[in-house]
Amino acid sequence: MKYLRAQLVRVLTRFFGSDDRRIEHALRVLHHAEHIMGSHPGCDADVVIASALLHDVGIKVSEEKLGYNNGMTQEEYGPPVAGDLLGSIGFPPDKIEIVKNIIGNHHSPSRYDYPELAVLKEADQIVNRDEAA
Ligand SMILES: [Fe+2]
Repeated sequence: MKYLRAQLVRVLTRFFGSDDRRIEHALRVLHHAEHIMGSHPGCDADVVIASALLHDVGIKVSEEKLGYNNGMTQEEYGPPVAGDLLGSIGFPPDKIEIVKNIIGNHHSPSRYDYPELAVLKEADQIVNRDEAA
């Protein structure tokens, strides 16, 4: 999809507002995911980009609703929001379903064999490790 990164950065920034930490995290995960996908045959680049940039949107919803977030609540609240954001930029519905499944599974043992899910998990781990250091 043309200018997908730019469009998603726009919706992501609007969504997270002044929460620079979350925006920076998403950009770092995108950076690593785009490198890693070269060694995972069969990846759809648009699914990788969308999953990387939107994977943590559930954090904000979880914190608003529950006052906290964890892997489970991120997986619960993230997919519907990601689906709405992707729909707003005309992302193809069949790929929206895949991205939602990926975001809903990125903190637990994989229930899908999407190569893009493996890429997201790997990229997120690298960034989380870096951020913890
Ligand atoms: Fe993350």
